[in-house]
Amino acid sequence: MAFEIRDLIRSRLGENYDLHDRHVNRTLVKVLRTIGFDKVYARAEGAYLYDREGRDYLDALGGYGAMNIGRNHPVVKKALADLLSLDMPNMVQMDCSLLSGLLAEALVKRSPPHLTAVFFCNSGAEAVEGAVKFARCATGREKLLFCSRAFHGLTTGALALNGSPMFREGFGTLLAGASVALDDFDALERELSQGEYAGFFFEPVQGKGVYYPRSDTFWPRAQELCRKYGTLLIADEVQTGLGRTGRFYSFQHWGLEPDIVMLAKSLSGGLVPCGAILTRREIYDKTFSRLDRCVVHSSTFGRNNLAMAAGLATLQVIEDEKVVENSARMGKALVDGLAALAIQHEFIREVRGKGLIVAVEFAEPKSLRLRAAWKLIQAADKGLFAQMVVIPLLKNHRILTQVAGHRMDVIKMTPPLIIGQKDVDRIVSAFNDTLADCCKFPGAMWDMGTNLVRASLMTRKAA
Ligand SMILES: Cc1ncc(COP(=O)(O)O)c(C=O)c1O
Repeated sequence: MAFEIRDLIRSRLGENYDLHDRHVNRTLVKVLRTIGFDKVYARAEGAYLYDREGRDYLDALGGYGAMNIGRNHPVVKKALADLLSLDMPNMVQMDCSLLSGLLAEALVKRSPPHLTAVFFCNSGAEAVEGAVKFARCATGREKLLFCSRAFHGLTTGALALNGSPMFREGFGTLLAGASVALDDFDALERELSQGEYAGFFFEPVQGKGVYYPRSDTFWPRAQELCRKYGTLLIADEVQTGLGRTGRFYSFQHWGLEPDIVMLAKSLSGGLVPCGAILTRREIYDKTFSRLDRCVVHSSTFGRNNLAMAAGLATLQVIEDEKVVENSARMGKALVDGLAALAIQHEFIREVRGKGLIVAVEFAEPKSLRLRAAWKLIQAADKGLFAQMVVIPLLKNHRILTQVAGHRMDVIKMTPPLIIGQKDVDRIVSAFNDTLADCCKFPGAMWDMGTNLVRASLMTRKAA
């Protein structure tokens, strides 16, 4: 029987959650069903997902930041289809492929002049793992410094740099390191001055919660201290790179010159896994230091043609469609629109963001009646209020968002960077409606909150 992917999808679409319940991650299935996120999406284009009935969902999650140029971009699709039609040799390994050379050249062209050497891999976490090895090899040191609330991926090396205890729990002893809080200059110097750290890993704008230093001098000072004490400055741009924050790299907001930079997620247009490490030539060559070490760090699919072609097409789209500029413009419109809601909605503590990585943080309301309801929900599970808002945003307004991190009263948005003013207006208006509903106590929103508490308690009991 001929294999027809179209027929297979047509005949089985809708079995998604049952299949996953049986064979994949059934805990995730349980969560998605509980919060009403068990949608069956049938098609995607640009910033929109569509269900089988053709209803549109504005994707403000953007595949965790992997969809900067929008889903299924025609230029990337064409590059991939054209490439497949050429029957090129792929992953010969003992050769140097043209497309990986071209993508390296294109990345270097868009980067500060000291970043001239590129290593390709398959994911953000793998880029972080590679950066750990490069930093250790270049400095001869072992320890790693990172930030509180940091997220650099979930493989064991990257997990050692994770600033949330929840992610580390249950996985044993990880690589040696320490964390410092954003804006804590003294702690940073105390750690770096020990002269033991190979690298200081940082997200210029943190993915978990969309935090960045209150002081604009923190990152530049961190760079100075790294130079002074011989620690490499390592910028994780896996989520914030390629225009997400309104600059090509987010470290450019602070005029930094990191020694190592990691990219992944949107690098290949959201269609093929791809990661990259950019660094100074002398750091790179410390790892590949002898002929017998020429592949001492490598990855089978790292330079594969599909990822490289998608990467080249994506960089072209970013330039041609002025995606970075749109991210800056629409990001400002979104932050301004949401911040204006704080005047009438007492739950909003702060709206923050750079470009199109945007957070709405909630806090205890002032009025007595609502404060009691808030406290009840908080006592059961911190972060549940944000979940209470995320649910109707999808159910009533067909906007996909997420709670920004474990035990955080923060909603985070990372939509494709191609959204327009009408999308911004749709998000702002949906928040306005939803938060107005939250002011009705008792009311449907708080009933839903109570149901969530119940579901969460039952799961904990079962565990
Ligand atoms: C800043 C950052 N670094 C690394 C990673 C890990 O990337 P991946 O999921 O591709 O391994 C992520 C993923 O969310 C991230 O946000």
